[in-house]
Amino acid sequence: MARKPFHLAWFISKGYGPKAWRMPWGGPNPASWVKPDLFVTLARELERAAFDYVMIEDSSNIPYTYRNSHDTYVRYAVDSPKLDPSVLAPFLIQATSRIGIVTTLSTTEYHPFMLARLTNTLDHVSDGRSGWNLVTGSNDGGAQNYGLERQYPHDERYEMADEYVELVHKLWDSWEPGAMVIDREKEIFADPTKVHPVHFEGRYFSSRGPLSAPRSPQGHPVICQAGGSARGRTFAARWAETIIASAGSVAAMKSFREDIRAKAAAFGRDPDHIKVLFMISPLVDESLAAAKARRQGQIDEANAHADFHLASLSRLTGIDFSKFGMDEVLPDLKSNGHQTIAAHCSGRTPRQLLESGRSLKDVSLLGTADMVAREMSDLIDEVGGDGFLIMYPELTRRYIAEIADGLVPALQKLGVVRERYQHVMLRDNLLEF
Ligand SMILES: Cc1cc2nc3c(=O)[nH]c(=O)nc-3n(C[C@H](O)[C@H](O)[C@H](O)COP(=O)(O)O)c2cc1C
Repeated sequence: MARKPFHLAWFISKGYGPKAWRMPWGGPNPASWVKPDLFVTLARELERAAFDYVMIEDSSNIPYTYRNSHDTYVRYAVDSPKLDPSVLAPFLIQATSRIGIVTTLSTTEYHPFMLARLTNTLDHVSDGRSGWNLVTGSNDGGAQNYGLERQYPHDERYEMADEYVELVHKLWDSWEPGAMVIDREKEIFADPTKVHPVHFEGRYFSSRGPLSAPRSPQGHPVICQAGGSARGRTFAARWAETIIASAGSVAAMKSFREDIRAKAAAFGRDPDHIKVLFMISPLVDESLAAAKARRQGQIDEANAHADFHLASLSRLTGIDFSKFGMDEVLPDLKSNGHQTIAAHCSGRTPRQLLESGRSLKDVSLLGTADMVAREMSDLIDEVGGDGFLIMYPELTRRYIAEIADGLVPALQKLGVVRERYQHVMLRDNLLEF
């Protein structure tokens, strides 16, 4: 390839939950969402297209922020229900051999020992293709399922997570490389001098260690993170190896990436060891007109189902959007949930938020595969590098094919993404370019 390629990953938005169940192309049996089949198809197709990884989103509650009721969420399957992503991950791992599988696990829901053990196991069974989407949780309803009165304050969640990740690293490191000897003649399974308790006593967490299993192929499964607030960025710059970000304009993407790189350098890290992937929802079709018609259909649908979309924003921010008029300019919203999203909503009207949906201010990402590929390539040139995280909440096999068989070949023709994997492990693929 003449120029430095960029990375591609996929975001399974709304996690291991129902997709496109009321849409055309939603499949013959919408009740089959509880089975891993659609996600297995997705992972296989993305591996054929040489994506770096697929990330399974998660949250673990039926929200009730909108109208102070579960009704909208349950009736329309808004951001719920969701099955457990750590059960889905092994199905995807089993069905593939190169693509990375990143599982979302929350620091306020898992004890660090459990999390270190689970991620270590996933890394073993995947031959080093596992990642952890490190989230802190954001929503009071989620925290209440775990016995808390409400979610911890925003910045404190990141303080807790700093300590949490320190402990998880110590547990991952508690078996030295090569500790597992398996020498039949000497009758040594593992070398006891290479297995160490951690005796961690923190402000929030403690654990004796060592981990109950040997070091995994990557040692440290890859950490993926998405904090967008000032505190979130500092956290991400300290720990993440790939950051998933949403930004509304090219300028915002560029400044986000530059900020992360500067913060990472201040932590003594090599900024090139963090791949910042920006969330996009490209729409490719036979012609620009066909793609535009589909986008218009999405806007019409959003207006017709305002409840559905406002309920989702309510969950993310913890703010009940039913109290605003559709054309009311929103005040400066303060959130103990996703602060980046709250900031994005401030100063806009609910209708504008619905209609703009996932689109970017200055790039359409709409048209034929060749048109969209060219736009993505130009966009990454302006941003400075790294890549994209594709997401499409109404996931269908049609959309998967449009990306894997339409958009990706067009990107490969431009020489801007990989055609085949050079490595097995996720970190090696991320660091390839
Ligand atoms: C692309 C993307 C994916 C995310 N996935 C999840 C997720 O699966 N589960 C979750 O609890 N939070 C998820 N988040 C939320 C982040 O972990 C974080 O809480 C959020 O970005 C708010 O961070 P901030 O307050 O620092 O802006 C995601 C955020 C983004 C941008």
